[in-house]
Amino acid sequence: MNRTASHGLPDAIRERFRREFGGNASRCFFAPGRINLVGAHLDYNGGDVLPMAVDRGLYVAVRLRNDGRIRLRSLAVDRQIDIDGTDVGQRANHEWGWGNYPIGVWQGMRTRIGREDGFEMVVGADLPMASGLSSSAAIEVATAIALDALYGTKLERQQIALLAHRAENGFVGLRCGIMDQFASALAKPGHVLWLHCAGPRFEHVPFDPSACEVLVMDTKKPRHLSRTGFNDRVAQCATAHETLRAHVRDLPHLADYNLADLKAAHGAMDEVLMRRARHVVTEMGRIATGVAALRVGDYQTLGRQLDASHRSTSVDYEVSCDELDVITDAARACDGVFGARLTGAGFGGCAIALCRPLFATAVAEQVGKVFRERFRVEAGFDVLRVGGGAGEI
Ligand code: GLA
Repeated sequence: MNRTASHGLPDAIRERFRREFGGNASRCFFAPGRINLVGAHLDYNGGDVLPMAVDRGLYVAVRLRNDGRIRLRSLAVDRQIDIDGTDVGQRANHEWGWGNYPIGVWQGMRTRIGREDGFEMVVGADLPMASGLSSSAAIEVATAIALDALYGTKLERQQIALLAHRAENGFVGLRCGIMDQFASALAKPGHVLWLHCAGPRFEHVPFDPSACEVLVMDTKKPRHLSRTGFNDRVAQCATAHETLRAHVRDLPHLADYNLADLKAAHGAMDEVLMRRARHVVTEMGRIATGVAALRVGDYQTLGRQLDASHRSTSVDYEVSCDELDVITDAARACDGVFGARLTGAGFGGCAIALCRPLFATAVAEQVGKVFRERFRVEAGFDVLRVGGGAGEI
């Protein structure tokens, strides 16, 4: 199994900072990635989600510049970004690649406080990128808390999360919900975040790592959210909601309806929209059951919600793929697995399996074999622990 040594990363980004920009980075910050236990595609439908920040994420070394320039480097990606702040408009520029996430946050901060200082930053991650563990939210949140500290704006964590979310939604253009940025910015050690996205309101619910291990299984299938059907799903849900409002009753969010409402809309909605809505409505039931189970440490019942959630995202929501179906089926067939499902948006990337303690290594071996035989690809496996929140290091 791949266990990345993360303790070297802060040193590595500081060292790279010295080489690239000279002198010392004034400050270093960390923001975690996340997995989502249950509540797939509910955040942008006004529903509940249950993300858990993990002990991996993204590190940044940062310093402000008084000439308005923005200079970004990554330990993992060659593309260097050197631009003038005055070149930054309201939307992402595809030439800036990964840099659009921190630039989007900087742009939101500039609009908010009216300061034009630029910044230079080196980024390092011990989280697989673009694979469903929310590396983009982690870079947004790390940049937001860094700029907040350097500008001395003292934003609340919820404002940090919303600033980061606006960068992704408004600047980068992915019509995602608030889950990832809230999970990263508001995480509390030893807990998962039960987030009611319509509020937003949240509660921290304990997660016991000695009762349940989280195995992350990376299909290695690339997944580029803005190029996949993600925005299509958002649009389909909006249409389903409009139809329900017009034909059944007027509720604020799609997640507020129930199966009887969907039945009443029969004939007004095509079969695809009906399935999208059915996923949303039934997933709300799974999250309620999942949270109740988690509160009493019943990981078996929680695991069954993951299995059912995966089926629903695969059949009704159609955001799974062969690789994610095979890897989760193979996990379910192993001893010691409570449940498994894709995590993040789907379309590729990672899945998770909740395992009894000490079972994860054997599960990874068995699943890896099945996956190799079927796809001739080495899937990646990692046991992630419940992480703490974002902050300065
Ligand atoms: C992506 C989005 C989130 C959420 C999930 C699906 O990770 O960024 O806002 O919609 O997909 O649950």
